[in-house]
Amino acid sequence: MSTADLELSFIQPGHALYPAELELRFRVLREPLGHTREQVLFPFEAQSLHLVAHRGEQALGCVLFHPEDPHGGRLFQMAVTPLLQGQRLGARLVQALETELLRRGFTHVHLHARQTVVPFYERLGYSVYAEPFMDVGLPHRHMRKSLGT
Ligand SMILES: CC(C)(COP(=O)(O)OP(=O)(O)OC[C@H]1O[C@@H](n2cnc3c(N)ncnc32)[C@H](O)[C@@H]1OP(=O)(O)O)[C@@H](O)C(=O)NCCC(=O)NCCS
Repeated sequence: MSTADLELSFIQPGHALYPAELELRFRVLREPLGHTREQVLFPFEAQSLHLVAHRGEQALGCVLFHPEDPHGGRLFQMAVTPLLQGQRLGARLVQALETELLRRGFTHVHLHARQTVVPFYERLGYSVYAEPFMDVGLPHRHMRKSLGT
């Protein structure tokens, strides 16, 4: 399956694609950990930007951003469907999100990276800081990037 024909759209909860985004997040990020569908929801869903890669109504990748102050916020729920991993869709999603964030005047992004995915974010210009920590039962690192530098 190719990623060439995928469309990238910013959506909000309530959009026709939102249930498909939630299902993708559940399948890629939560089901492998034995979590329930309810555990995919964050308290700040409605305040966040949701960027979805889709073919029609089918969501195949996503990344979210929660604005925490006028200058920056947290990138979270980065997911690419297993069949399309390794085809640069994840990188394309992060780069498209960063372009939109710069357009909106944000200059700083931080995130909680699973230890195994740290090299993915490093290739995109993110740096590890602070001590390792555990989240959802997995080792994580804090990472951050200044946009537009
Ligand atoms: C992590 C994830 C989003 C990456 O998306 P992807 O589309 O597979 O990655 P890309 O093809 O865009 O990779 C971009 C670069 O990062 C590298 N990369 C991607 N995942 C990597 C990993 N786990 N370890 C090392 N390098 C990795 C790629 O080799 C590529 O390198 P290049 O620039 O030299 O070509 C995706 O694999 C995924 O959804 N994984 C499961 C969920 C997850 O762990 N999400 C992150 C939670 S913090």
